[in-house]
Amino acid sequence: MNLNLKNLPKLGVGIGFREPFKSELFFNQNEVDFLEIVAEHYLDVLPHKEQELELLMAHFPIIPHGINLSIGSAEGIDKDYLQKLARLVNKINPPWWSEHLSFTKAGGIDIGHLSPLPYTPEAVDVVCQNIQQIQRFIDVPFILENITYLLTIPGAKMTEAQFIGEILERCDCGLLLDVTNLYTNSVNHGYDALEFLNQLPLERVVQLHFTGGFWDGDVLIDSHSHTTFSEVWQLMAEVLKRVTPRGMILERDENIPPFADLVAELKQARELLGKIKVRDRASTEL
Ligand SMILES: [Fe+2]
Repeated sequence: MNLNLKNLPKLGVGIGFREPFKSELFFNQNEVDFLEIVAEHYLDVLPHKEQELELLMAHFPIIPHGINLSIGSAEGIDKDYLQKLARLVNKINPPWWSEHLSFTKAGGIDIGHLSPLPYTPEAVDVVCQNIQQIQRFIDVPFILENITYLLTIPGAKMTEAQFIGEILERCDCGLLLDVTNLYTNSVNHGYDALEFLNQLPLERVVQLHFTGGFWDGDVLIDSHSHTTFSEVWQLMAEVLKRVTPRGMILERDENIPPFADLVAELKQARELLGKIKVRDRASTEL
């Protein structure tokens, strides 16, 4: 499948669905343009999760977001897992779906964590082989998310931005740019986020993520537990000057506040995105 971004619908600004705010979500349905669901919560066809998914699908556009496919595993993709994932994605029939550029399994062991890959041509080959297998199974545009990491794997032969860019180009994938992850890595590893941004194939950005973490001493922890930092909003504005994503998702997992606080963040994101829409209209009129 060729990724034709122009054919992807503009979904707007939404939230990663979490059960604790399910009823408030339906009371505030007009404030949420679309939902992202964690694919793993719906793979085992449990009756109450099936019903929940049907309900969500009846009221919102849904984007499945995988966590444990482990596309960086040298031993390849778990076929049973891939079949379950394909069944879910086909059932939802979304405009795109996403996973992380990382590995979570190695040597048959589940690490239970999104782990960074070495930035080497060999790792590019592994990831691309796995993605090509996935794309044969799931005929829906696939987008990859940049992760946070505290540990850097030694032996890099390219920068992280080059690594991401090469995989996106070779596998014809879109980018799920997690703006908070980019900011978090830039402060923890001491690099310039804008320089990193400018090295990415930004024309492949399909979706954004944003959320807040917390400081543990001088390390920023990617915990999805706080309001989005002002620095992340500033970086998001820089991203939106360069690209028009088809969707933006607030990811909040911990320390979930009153739903009105989440809606306030969605509004802030929508305002930023709206500025881009104005610019788009202006450029079309020229
Ligand atoms: Fe994310």
